[in-house]
Amino acid sequence: MGRKTLGWLIPEKIPGFRADFYDKLSEKISRMYKELADDITKKMKHGSILDVRTGPGHLPIEITKRSPKVKITGIDLTEKMIEIAKKKAENAGFIGRVYFEVGDGNKLRYEDNTFDLVVSSGSFHHWKNPVRVLNECYRVLKPEKEAWIYDFDKKEIYEVYNETRN
Ligand SMILES: C[S@@+](CC[C@H](N)C(=O)[O-])C[C@H]1O[C@@H](n2cnc3c(N)ncnc32)[C@H](O)[C@@H]1O
Repeated sequence: MGRKTLGWLIPEKIPGFRADFYDKLSEKISRMYKELADDITKKMKHGSILDVRTGPGHLPIEITKRSPKVKITGIDLTEKMIEIAKKKAENAGFIGRVYFEVGDGNKLRYEDNTFDLVVSSGSFHHWKNPVRVLNECYRVLKPEKEAWIYDFDKKEIYEVYNETRN
């Protein structure tokens, strides 16, 4: 079956009723979010970051722990994911330091030239229209700034799969 046909059958958005399950599953690979946050905060000590398709918000929370002066916003299409992410921020005492909102990565609501860095983790392989999303990331980035899109390679997918089984 072609990618286009599969695209119709498999929605990009994780439905609300699966958000808690995804949250629990992704907690098992918390090491990955910590490593990504280390990588990002080596460069970003202050400024604004947008996390596109943040899911339950693991990455923005880890970034906020490391770089208190960074202002980070995570967006996701699934309301329940954003609810979970906001709860995590509240529990960590990060209200007013990290922001989560429902938003569409294909059509960002932000003005041009808003962010110092755009990040995204573990979702690129799901993007149905990567060019459109990348254009949006480019539009909201300030001039000369970068988007860092992290995804799994084949070997890592097996490692991650094994970690979630322990
Ligand atoms: C595989 S999860 C990755 C979540 C998170 N980045 C992580 O590393 O755990 C992909 C997320 O993208 C969200 N999503 C799918 N389509 C989207 C869109 N057009 N705009 C914003 N979020 C979207 C899904 O709801 C889901 O939470």
